[in-house]
Amino acid sequence: MHLKPLKRIPLLMLLALSSAVAQAWTVDELAAALQAAARSEADKARDADRKPAEVLVFAGVQPGMTVLDVMAGGGWYTEVLSVAVGPDGTVYSENPAWLLEAMNGAPAKALSKRLADGRLPNVVRVDRGLEEGKIPPASIDIALTALNLHDTYDRFGRGAAVSQLRQIARTLKPDGVLILIDHAGLPDQDNARLHRIVPDLVREMVREAGFEIVAEGDMLRHPEDDKTKMVFAKGIRGKTDRFVLKLRPTR
Ligand SMILES: C[S@@+](CC[C@H](N)C(=O)[O-])C[C@H]1O[C@@H](n2cnc3c(N)ncnc32)[C@H](O)[C@@H]1O
Repeated sequence: MHLKPLKRIPLLMLLALSSAVAQAWTVDELAAALQAAARSEADKARDADRKPAEVLVFAGVQPGMTVLDVMAGGGWYTEVLSVAVGPDGTVYSENPAWLLEAMNGAPAKALSKRLADGRLPNVVRVDRGLEEGKIPPASIDIALTALNLHDTYDRFGRGAAVSQLRQIARTLKPDGVLILIDHAGLPDQDNARLHRIVPDLVREMVREAGFEIVAEGDMLRHPEDDKTKMVFAKGIRGKTDRFVLKLRPTR
């Protein structure tokens, strides 16, 4: 069909708009893409507990984005993010020195295996990325740190945790967001031993670091968890009460 030039413009605009809309993942589409991807069966088995599709749609992750996995450990979330941003996106997979060396180097070895032979070509491994300022400033659409802030806080103290949050803020684009997930603890108990942290303390620290809380996700909440058990204990692992904060830098 022949269209006069003036009539072509709205059609082109419509096509451009519809392709932009098609870019955003729905939870079902991303969950299906994660199950269809060439991830290990052990990784896929954890989706039921970790709900990555719900978390990343809540975060706003879309194909083509540049994202940062802070304290990636062995890189479970790095690979999930690699699928979610697709071949036109980039994932920085970051770890501090101590985490790479923890448990006889298990996280470093697991990450090396995961990235061997260029099997995740959109992933850039950045060891000591935050502590050495290796992530380009104002380059990240979405940063994510899963089950880690308690470790920074417990090992190095409140000042170090706030400082790490500030380092993350510097890597974010002006409209970028940080997704922070951690195991909820109770006040007045030894949360360091349990690998938990009090959510209100985290809310205080993120504000001190210059973030505002724009939303809280309840997809990983488990009210039946009494929060007194160690998170790696049999029966509770994967079923802990976890809070999810969506944070935007205010300066
Ligand atoms: C849970 S990992 C999170 C890594 C990554 N961000 C993720 O979400 O996959 C963070 C911490 O858990 C510790 N860790 C992992 N498995 C553990 C286990 N079975 N027992 C004790 N600590 C463990 C790691 O050493 C690290 O300090």
